[in-house]
Amino acid sequence: MKFTYQNPTVIQFGVGKIKSLVRFLDKDTKILMVYGGGSIKTNGVYDQVKTALEGYTLFEFNGVEPNPTIETMNKAIDIIKKEKIDFVLAVGGGSVIDGCKYLVAAALYEGDGWDFLDGSKVVKEALPLGVILTLPATGSESNSFAVVSKKSTDEKRSLDSRFLFPTFAILDPSIMSTLSDRQLGNGLVDAFIHTCEQYITYPTSSLVQDGYSETLLKGLVELANTWEDRRSLQWCENLMWIANQALNGLIGAGVPQDWATHCIGHELTAFYGIDHARSLAVVQPQLLRVMMEDKQEKLIQLGETVFGIKNDATATIIAMENLYEKVGVPTNLNHYDIDNDVISNVVTALEKHGMSKIGENANITLEHTSKILTMAMK
Ligand code: NZQ
Ligand code: ZN
Repeated sequence: MKFTYQNPTVIQFGVGKIKSLVRFLDKDTKILMVYGGGSIKTNGVYDQVKTALEGYTLFEFNGVEPNPTIETMNKAIDIIKKEKIDFVLAVGGGSVIDGCKYLVAAALYEGDGWDFLDGSKVVKEALPLGVILTLPATGSESNSFAVVSKKSTDEKRSLDSRFLFPTFAILDPSIMSTLSDRQLGNGLVDAFIHTCEQYITYPTSSLVQDGYSETLLKGLVELANTWEDRRSLQWCENLMWIANQALNGLIGAGVPQDWATHCIGHELTAFYGIDHARSLAVVQPQLLRVMMEDKQEKLIQLGETVFGIKNDATATIIAMENLYEKVGVPTNLNHYDIDNDVISNVVTALEKHGMSKIGENANITLEHTSKILTMAMK
């Protein structure tokens, strides 16, 4: 094991915590509050934020779409520059948060912010960012990643910089009451697959990372098994905290990782608009089958510790598919409105984005991706 681990985001967790936001903001701070399509207006979050920030200089920018685009976020850069904003407050799910991460970096950069996404430039500075999380799934509220799209070219790319960790994140599980079943299922599956991407590689001797990953996965299995309780506070609290812990850097510290399912899934979303978690659920099981030789030892370990399946990697993959289906997330790509070009679109985009060889051993090739997608449509 060899790693640097630091997660600087202060977490405020629990019902009623939104008002604690003033602890992090001086009265003379000029704040830009950013949100999505309006769910915060129907569940009272908008009013809670406005009340908490009474007396502050507060500007607003709304309309951040699921899978945020630079076309939308660039409009907010103008407000930041014109009003001399010095703090951005993201109120929403992964899309609003990621859009704001792009924003806080791009606002201080003279060139085209897409440079950070295509990898031609690294972020050297960013405005401070705070988060009020409304949808547990991505872990974006306390990590350094952002995934942003460019509508004009159907591209979805990611960015990682230590300057993008939010200063604070407020996680109030009662906000989840207005989430649809579809978003709850998506969140559960995204958190499950985040944990898998940092776990189903090859065996290591990392007891903390393995053990904690197994705890998170067991928790998610428990939540799927108690799906009928999904409107209870206890259920929501657990999903919110597990999804946060699954992608805050801890379980991935110093261990091999395989983000191939995410790389392929992002291309599917870019072309066909499939929800993020849903793109993963069609790719991951088939990827595990295609890469069975590399993955089977960890799959067997996962099967035994998480599902109680003895020495059977294939049965473990089936148990994972059943879990996703149980929470309403399909595992077959034909469920979506795709076209005959799906394989060539994804493969060409991966190649263009420098992802011809992905996975923990850099041996998941474009041929493998073709096979994975073919199997995903059976
Ligand atoms: O826009 P509003 O009106 O808020 O509606 C949203 C949106 O339509 C709605 N929603 C959010 N909170 C709600 C609510 N509806 C009712 N009640 C609430 N409390 O949910 C819809 C989806 O929101 P979105 O933010 O898109 O979902 P999610 O949190 O799953 O984020 C997905 C994005 O995050 C990226 C994905 O690629 C995708 O772009 N990811 C970011 C990661 C990261 N930064 O670490 C890692 C992930 O792997 C992922 O790639
Ligand atoms: Zn994800």
